[in-house]
Amino acid sequence: MATLNLGFLASHGGSNMQAIIDACNSGKLDGKPCCVISNNSASGALDRSGKEGIPWNHISGHTHSTPEAEAEAIVDTFSRYGVDTIILAGYMKILSPQVINYFNGRVLNIHPALLPKFGGKGMYGLRVHEAVLKAGDKESGATVHLVDSQYDRGRVLAQMKVPVVDGDTPESLAARVLAVEHILYTNTLKRIVSGGIEI
Ligand code: GRF
Repeated sequence: MATLNLGFLASHGGSNMQAIIDACNSGKLDGKPCCVISNNSASGALDRSGKEGIPWNHISGHTHSTPEAEAEAIVDTFSRYGVDTIILAGYMKILSPQVINYFNGRVLNIHPALLPKFGGKGMYGLRVHEAVLKAGDKESGATVHLVDSQYDRGRVLAQMKVPVVDGDTPESLAARVLAVEHILYTNTLKRIVSGGIEI
C-alpha cells in the first residue's frame, strides 16, 4: 500500500507518537504525520507536534459540548489534513464509532500488556503493571490492535514480550514495556505498508 497518512490522538506524553514520527522523518517508515489531536491542551503530545511542525488541535469535552460534536470535529480535522490511518497513542477516551466508521476501521491502538490479559475499562497506566505483578506472571509485553467500540477488544495485530524480573516494581516494568512499545508500534506500521499485515 502507499504511504500511510497518519493522524494521532494522544492525551499525555506522546512518546509512542514521537517514535513513529522519528521513523517517518528518518525514512524508516513510509508514513506522513499529518495531524495531532489531543483532548488535553497541556499534553506533551501537543508540545511535540508544535516542535515537529505538525498541525495540531485540542478537541475535548471542553471545546465541544456533546460527544457527537466532538467526534464530528475529530473527523473534520483529520479529513482536512488527508489522514487515512488513525494512531491512538495514549488516548484516554473511548473513540466514537462515528470516527471509527468514517475511517473504515483503520484505527490502531497500543496497550502495555499482552491482550486479552490485563485490558479493559480502568486498565491503564501503572494499574496494568500492578495487575501483572499481582498475578505473578513471568512475562508481559505490548499489543498493537485495531480499535472497536470497546476498550482493548479489537483484533490483535502484533505483540512483543518482555520478561518480568525479580524485584520489578510497576514503574520498572512499565519502563521495560514502553521501550518495546516504541519498536512494536513502528514495526507494525511498516508491516502494514509492506502488506504483511492487512487492516
Ligand atoms: C503507553 O503505555 C501505551 O501503551 C498506553 O498509554 C501509554 C502512552 O505513553 N496506551 P506515551 O504517551 O506514548 O508516552
